[in-house]
Amino acid sequence: MPFTAVAQTQPPAPIVIETAHLSLALAVGQNHKLYQTYLGPKLAAAADYQGLPQRHEAYPPAGTDNLFEPALRVVHADGNPGLALAYVGTETTKTDDAATTIIRLRDPLYPVEVRLHFVAYQREDVIKTWTEIVHHEKKPVVLTNYASAMLHFEASKYYLTQLHGDWAEEGKEVESQLTSGTKVLDTKLGTRAAMYQTASFFLATDRPATETTGNVLAGSLAWTGNFRLAFELDNEQALRVSAGINPYSSQYTLPAGQVFTTPEFIFTYSTQGKGQASRNLHRWARQQGGELDGTLPRLTLLNNWEATYFDFNEPKLDALMGDAAKLGADLFLLDDGWFGNKYPRKDDHQGLGDWQPTTSKLPNGVGHLVQTATKEGIKFGIWIEPEMVNPKSELYEKHPDWVLKLPGRPEDYYRNQLVLDLTNPKVQDFVYGIVDAQLSQGVAYLKWDCNRMITNGYSQYLGKDQSHLYVDYVRGLYRVLDRVRQKYPHVPMMLCSGGGARADYGGLKYFTEFWASDNTDALERVYIQWGFLNFFPSNAIASHVTNWNPQQTLKFRTDVAMSGKLGYDIEVSKMTPAELQFSQQAVKDYKRLSPVIWQGDLYKLRSPYEGNQAALLYVAENQAEAVVFGYNLRTRFHETVLPVKLLGLDPARRYRLTEINLMPGQKSNLPANGQTYSGDYLQKVGVVLSDPEAKALTSHVLEVTAE
Ligand code: DGJ
Repeated sequence: MPFTAVAQTQPPAPIVIETAHLSLALAVGQNHKLYQTYLGPKLAAAADYQGLPQRHEAYPPAGTDNLFEPALRVVHADGNPGLALAYVGTETTKTDDAATTIIRLRDPLYPVEVRLHFVAYQREDVIKTWTEIVHHEKKPVVLTNYASAMLHFEASKYYLTQLHGDWAEEGKEVESQLTSGTKVLDTKLGTRAAMYQTASFFLATDRPATETTGNVLAGSLAWTGNFRLAFELDNEQALRVSAGINPYSSQYTLPAGQVFTTPEFIFTYSTQGKGQASRNLHRWARQQGGELDGTLPRLTLLNNWEATYFDFNEPKLDALMGDAAKLGADLFLLDDGWFGNKYPRKDDHQGLGDWQPTTSKLPNGVGHLVQTATKEGIKFGIWIEPEMVNPKSELYEKHPDWVLKLPGRPEDYYRNQLVLDLTNPKVQDFVYGIVDAQLSQGVAYLKWDCNRMITNGYSQYLGKDQSHLYVDYVRGLYRVLDRVRQKYPHVPMMLCSGGGARADYGGLKYFTEFWASDNTDALERVYIQWGFLNFFPSNAIASHVTNWNPQQTLKFRTDVAMSGKLGYDIEVSKMTPAELQFSQQAVKDYKRLSPVIWQGDLYKLRSPYEGNQAALLYVAENQAEAVVFGYNLRTRFHETVLPVKLLGLDPARRYRLTEINLMPGQKSNLPANGQTYSGDYLQKVGVVLSDPEAKALTSHVLEVTAE
């Protein structure tokens, strides 16, 4: 790649990256540096982008005059740790959907070039940005910080909303005011990376944003590994947000001519609160490839995990497939425990890595299961955890050098397993082979699990480049997934990581959905799904009806799962006739309404974090149909439940409200059931989404149809 000389006499016109309502403006200073001059709602007059103050270097390099968090730090081949970045040029291209801008910067002294990429999605008001770093020094340089992007804000106050959690308590929403210094959201776990923190956030300026009010940025890093989101509030009340791979333990040695490409950082901006920001992200994900096949239908499935755990055999599975068909599901998903012969996978202590069906449990292999499913008129899917191995396995005996472990130290187990070394192309081939073997024999769906993080991380394959481990691991994973998607572009796959520890847009490019949590208690799920719905569309959030908490009614559990991507993980044969009838109808109604639930706009009407009721609705783009979910949570005796205003409807139309998901024989006692109201009334006055009794852990689903 040729390096053009930095010879700018007249600074060029401002570079304005804009969507329908949002703009990011950059300008080149007399000193040739690139500055971010504006980020916010689009300015009405293009001339107003001229002459904006140049206070914040857009992508500040380290080691020269920068005083704060750098975007990029390069140690040159000669050991010089300083980098300066001067503007070289801009290229722009346009399609109907998006405008792409590439800004080139280079060091006037060293042949290091940086290309800032921006794709501005017009209709969705989303900008996707990433950076390429390349050099032509005589020897490799070392990158010690390499953010995907940096954004700058000037406001009186900043409020950050993050998701945090752990196993079975994912997606917990917390909002805090940023104070001076740096707040960091990050992970160093490598695999199962987002177990404690999720790489998505809201940032509200001046005052906290609500669902419907306030200026707020929503951002998400598309990376299924170590990430770092840093929010640095400086002495002048300016905030730098840097988003990228976590450079922790990850200095990257870059040979001349090789391009280092950062992950994408996706963001949107709303002047009307968090709800609009969420909807922008949802639309972008569905329409612009943020998730795989976002506009295509999803399969409703019955999983056997909670129903059987490891305890199953062929006749039992055959019967479960009959039950799946009876329920009306599209697919039966066989979870963990189907493989291993020398070390059969009878529990989680052994067998991981040996992907042959256990003959004592499944004498006729996966082929028979596919056949049974076909006979039942459904599809068959299977669980794999291809990045991992139990030491008690034939794979480990054969390839002890394929695992990540520190030489000279004892192996460190988590769930009795080790992580395979996905930096190694042979391991990548092996993992691809596992997937290919399943999909080429008629398996129509995969659940891809990843139950442990990296500890004692050391790759025999990488040798002296150990600091490449965390980055190259994820790249290795993506390489495998690229191959899978080349051969099987549309097979639906669920990304799971011991629950929801891989909820990110890096993974969702390859997966149709992610498992949000092993915790399927419906009360807990109201919160977990609420958290993830801030950043991910409903069709990506696998939400199953289970027996985790049998104290809760099947109706409550179903009503909660139906507000995401509905599935089941339950023993259908143990349902009462009424429960079965109810569930069959629920599946039918879900399929009928899923275009609205999956493709519609989400309005969060009442937050579970603010009281004892939660409510949300999805409305079709043409506003002809909506589905409303109302949940009574820890509702107290005689607690007053106020009407919920139904947003997103057309004020000029009239809508009929019909309660669905009633148990056989149950009559709706919602006053609004069967009534017709104007959209104007519904959004200004609203309706009560609760029985007069308002009992805890009860719920209502309403279909809203324009007349
Ligand atoms: C963890 C997942 O989150 C569960 O749903 C299940 O697939 C188990 N792993 C199987 O080991």
